[in-house]
Amino acid sequence: MGYPVAHSRSPVIHQLFAQQTGQELRYELLRVAPEKLEEAVRQFQRTGGRGLNITVPHKRAVFRLVDHLSERASAAGAVNTLTFHNNEIYGDNTDGIGLLRDLVVNLGLNLEGANILILGAGGATRGIVGPLLDMQPRNVCIANRTVKRAEDLVERFGSRGPVSASTFDAVPVSEPYDLVINATSAIHGGEMPPYPEAALSPNTFCYDLSYSLHTTPFCVWALEHGAAHAVMGWGMLVEQAAESFHIWRGVRPDTKPVLKQISITA
Ligand code: ATR
Repeated sequence: MGYPVAHSRSPVIHQLFAQQTGQELRYELLRVAPEKLEEAVRQFQRTGGRGLNITVPHKRAVFRLVDHLSERASAAGAVNTLTFHNNEIYGDNTDGIGLLRDLVVNLGLNLEGANILILGAGGATRGIVGPLLDMQPRNVCIANRTVKRAEDLVERFGSRGPVSASTFDAVPVSEPYDLVINATSAIHGGEMPPYPEAALSPNTFCYDLSYSLHTTPFCVWALEHGAAHAVMGWGMLVEQAAESFHIWRGVRPDTKPVLKQISITA
């Protein structure tokens, strides 16, 4: 469920998981306007739906509909996975673990002691800061156009590890960044934020939560300014889907072949 949803690759991903694991399922796109969210979720529940992914712009609004909230969804302040069981709704958030699996398992990054910069302080950032801090980085700096939103996240997550806030033009660069993550939604407005060039070094790994068949503007920018690697978020997309699939079906699909297929045929 989202608004819009037409662009979503999730039906294809879940169908591939189902084929691979021998599960029977139907996964469809439901376009639901914000004022219809509760009605749509209740109807889905009434008609025997088993699980729902919730995407933009409903990830926060769906909070009030769940009966049980996982710790990670509660910390993120957002829900992307609902499970319906015995007339009750369970809410979870698989975005953070999806990113971590892509970074650590698929891409082989070591985040312990890493200096990390996140660009953007919206819903996407809220879902990933906690899991990143759990990997014991040296520091996570959140830079945002509106610095107040970054400061709010520092307040929210400060007890979980070393995290700081900044504007784009004041990002501290005395220590080189190992990882720079783009979590702004600027691409959707066709805008190019003033990404901080000084944050990049020849050893910096850049990761864009956005994905596209063409290299995203952030990845183009990163490579043009000397980053070691620039990777789009296809892996996070597939990994968060695998985690949701595991919650619903109790089996973990092999993400590698699905990631390969989806990122070239989307
Ligand atoms: P999401 O759930 O995708 O994170 P969001 O909560 O609306 O969406 O957050 C969007 C993020 O992209 C915010 O950090 C936003 O910055 P502001 O908090 O200052 O609005 C950032 N963003 C969007 N367009 C941007 C632009 N043109 N330049 C810089 N940052 C931008």
